[in-house]
Amino acid sequence: MTDPSISTPEVGEDAPLSAYEKPGVADIDPRCIPQNLDGSPPAGDEIVTPEYSDEDNANWTFLFNRQMSMLPGRAGAAFMTGVETLGMTPDGIPALPGLSRHMKQATGWQIARIPGLLHERDFFGLLAKRLFPSTDYIRGKEELDYTPAPDCFHDMFGHMPMLTQPAYADFYHMFGKAALDAKGQDRVSLERLHWFTVEFGLIQQEEGMRIFGAGVLSSKEEVQHALSGKVEKKPFDIEAIINQDYEVWHLQPILYVLDSFEQLVDGFKNWAVGRGLLPG
Ligand SMILES: [Fe+2]
Repeated sequence: MTDPSISTPEVGEDAPLSAYEKPGVADIDPRCIPQNLDGSPPAGDEIVTPEYSDEDNANWTFLFNRQMSMLPGRAGAAFMTGVETLGMTPDGIPALPGLSRHMKQATGWQIARIPGLLHERDFFGLLAKRLFPSTDYIRGKEELDYTPAPDCFHDMFGHMPMLTQPAYADFYHMFGKAALDAKGQDRVSLERLHWFTVEFGLIQQEEGMRIFGAGVLSSKEEVQHALSGKVEKKPFDIEAIINQDYEVWHLQPILYVLDSFEQLVDGFKNWAVGRGLLPG
């Protein structure tokens, strides 16, 4: 299975079904139904950290240690540095205000606490304000290997380290701004771009190919699969990606490889300006 808790934004009414809208999934798990925000969510130091139970913290410790044990030689340098920059440890679930302060110092991004899967207009609206939407609850013990719903292990561990990398952080900000006004086929293109970069992206480093996508880095199975010979790796190419369909419910057979995060920034900006989604 692919990562259990990918917070891929749901697409618009005029676009195909997203991961969480596939028949039989949203129907059976209310956590997979996108929500509307009621006003602005608390951000940065406004966020009240929950009292986590011992079991919650133990689940974080298990997931953190399991992923980190597999990441040397697999995760990109920016991700590994980001984990340190954010001060994440196996000791327990980090508090969002502290993570937000570290992120703000690194790239100007902050964190907004959200209640679960968001409707796209709220999700993109936060990205466009350099606010990363994050849950603060963790999957239960019975869901350590698989959960269909978003949770804070995916949001915090999978996504946040990369948002301390300046070029990547600028790309994701642009992505939010471009997605706000996108309609029709552009929405589909953006969903595919999000999937093959933010969630499943690879990058070529001097020492070899590495993972930076949150959906891979927070998944036990994907992290073992992504760099293997079972996956066809293609050079990053926006036109190819926006024409590449994908399926959520199995290990990914095709992934795209960046040369650098600057390639992502420049490539995305050119494409979005060309589509009229960003000012020239
Ligand atoms: Fe995600």
